[in-house]
Amino acid sequence: MCGIVAYLGENNAIPLLIDGLKRLEYRGYDSAGIAFIDKDKKLATIKRKGKIKNLEKEIKEDMFSNIGIAHTRWATHGEPNDVNAHPHTDCKGEIAVVHNGIIENFRAIKDFLIKKGHKIKTDTDTEVIAHLIEDNYRGDLLNATRMALNIVEGTYGIAVISSKEPDKIIIARNGSPIAIAQNDGNYYAASDASAIIGKSESLYYLKDKEICVMSREGLNITTLDNIPVTPEFQKIEFDLSQIEKGGFPHFMLKEIYEQPEVIMNTIRGRIDVENGDVRLNGLKDYKEWFGKDVNRIIFTACGTSWHASLIAEYLIEKLAGIPVEVEYASEFRYRNPIIDRNTAVFVITQSGETADTLAALREAKKKGANVFGICNVVGSTIARETDAGIYVHAGPEIGVASTKAFTAQIIGALLIALYLGRMRKLGYEEGKTILENLLKLPEQIQTLLKEHDKIEKIADNFRNSKNFLYLGRGLNFPIALEGALKMKEISYIHAEGYPAAEMKHGPIALIDENMPVVFVATKDSIYDKVINNIEEVKARRGKVIAIATEGDEDIRKVADFVVYVPKTIDVLVPILTVIPLQLMAYYLAVYNGCNVDQPRNLAKSVTVE
Ligand code: AGP
Ligand code: GLU
Repeated sequence: MCGIVAYLGENNAIPLLIDGLKRLEYRGYDSAGIAFIDKDKKLATIKRKGKIKNLEKEIKEDMFSNIGIAHTRWATHGEPNDVNAHPHTDCKGEIAVVHNGIIENFRAIKDFLIKKGHKIKTDTDTEVIAHLIEDNYRGDLLNATRMALNIVEGTYGIAVISSKEPDKIIIARNGSPIAIAQNDGNYYAASDASAIIGKSESLYYLKDKEICVMSREGLNITTLDNIPVTPEFQKIEFDLSQIEKGGFPHFMLKEIYEQPEVIMNTIRGRIDVENGDVRLNGLKDYKEWFGKDVNRIIFTACGTSWHASLIAEYLIEKLAGIPVEVEYASEFRYRNPIIDRNTAVFVITQSGETADTLAALREAKKKGANVFGICNVVGSTIARETDAGIYVHAGPEIGVASTKAFTAQIIGALLIALYLGRMRKLGYEEGKTILENLLKLPEQIQTLLKEHDKIEKIADNFRNSKNFLYLGRGLNFPIALEGALKMKEISYIHAEGYPAAEMKHGPIALIDENMPVVFVATKDSIYDKVINNIEEVKARRGKVIAIATEGDEDIRKVADFVVYVPKTIDVLVPILTVIPLQLMAYYLAVYNGCNVDQPRNLAKSVTVE
């Protein structure tokens, strides 16, 4: 998962690389390191365990080089320490490699290299790449890298420099993202656009099995089999202010507050209120097929995107009447799913780089399915590999805990449900009502966000809680799961989500005066049943926090704390109910002194299986 930056040009590479790493820190922060060619044309490597600031302390002011590579790590092989930090070098310390991905056959390669006399210094899978390049070096770094990459199996995005050819960086990719940019004699490579913004206006995402040589003569891209590639550069769509905190203490809070705007961005140009319909250009080539032939849909995704898929299931079944199944992407491939030519497979992903989701997508394609994406990051691997789909336009999401992308995914799923629905069973009036109410959401979220003080106070009451239970029914069940996930990932407090009625089948045994239970209990057809579930908790002295519909005074009689969300129609409720849960997890994480934007052990895009 990790982030890679590389630079060659006129300026001092070192501060530039550190700056780039900081923008990629969300991808991993187990260790950080840089390698550059020093004044004596020797390879210099500096690396430190932990965050980039630890590495930064080791940088001396007079250090200068105009070529270098850098890495921020999320460890897969080998514990996060100084030695296992990237860059990794060969025996002679002349070749340095940074790597994102996993080399699956590294043990066999390691044994082979040790037999040949190589000295392996680390526990990582990555180090073998440096030694393989050394082993194959016959005066041509590009060729040696090519040969090494022909031996390794697995995924990689790599950058390589060597004191033997001090004016060159070799970049290659198979499965892990790498973007390349140039501007007036300066060349950049990075795991994503955020490290390149402000340096160049456009970039090229290297494709799998492509290899690029950056040198003072320019960029030369070929495939691993040496077929020339003409890169098509694309414009970078967002600016630096979009990835900065804009006055908020954390990216996560900023992103929570961006949700009203995100909704407008997701629906822009896509809704036709008068006709109660939506336009989805991304799916237009398949319109007839969706209208007539599709008789089953599978959604597959991970984490928060999986929760959005559960909501998609509900919306599509209700509005379009097509049966939907939801699979964890990590399970999908291994259970040999049944797919026929009338099955549509959808993947939901914020990053577009999640390895499990990518593997599921590829498996579905292998089985002949048409695969569609609901994706945030433009030009990402999953966006490119799906047959068609929609971007949700949530903008860059930096906080590791997904918030605004989740909301945008639900809106994306709703648009698809309406699109399919209007071709099938959904009447014009119903479509129109949904769209009219959808347009009210941004303002309703603004109103809800004004309740932040109240939510902060509620969170304060539970500073010392070690567990939380989240319960909801229908469309609020995935929201209960999402609330629990947010709590776990940023506050490190154990939390579980359940369908409210399931509580009596087991979790009820956990309830006592120390167990806070969050009920997502909005007024809908099963509201009365949820109230019964609340009574069951109260009878066992559990503490109840209810997320309820504005105007519902009765709920105050049973709940200890109530947060009201504005009234809307059933299908839109989850977009409102998730917001207090995002804020509650946020405030508890802050109270507990946790690193909100970069929680321990996690990374923003999980590009390893
Ligand atoms: C969300 O808060 C998580 N950090 C995580 O579960 C995430 O949703 C999951 O890894 C999927 O990522 P994707 O949407 O980028 O594919
Ligand atoms: N497999 C490499 C390591 O553990 C790179 C991990 C990553 O991509 O984050 O160091």
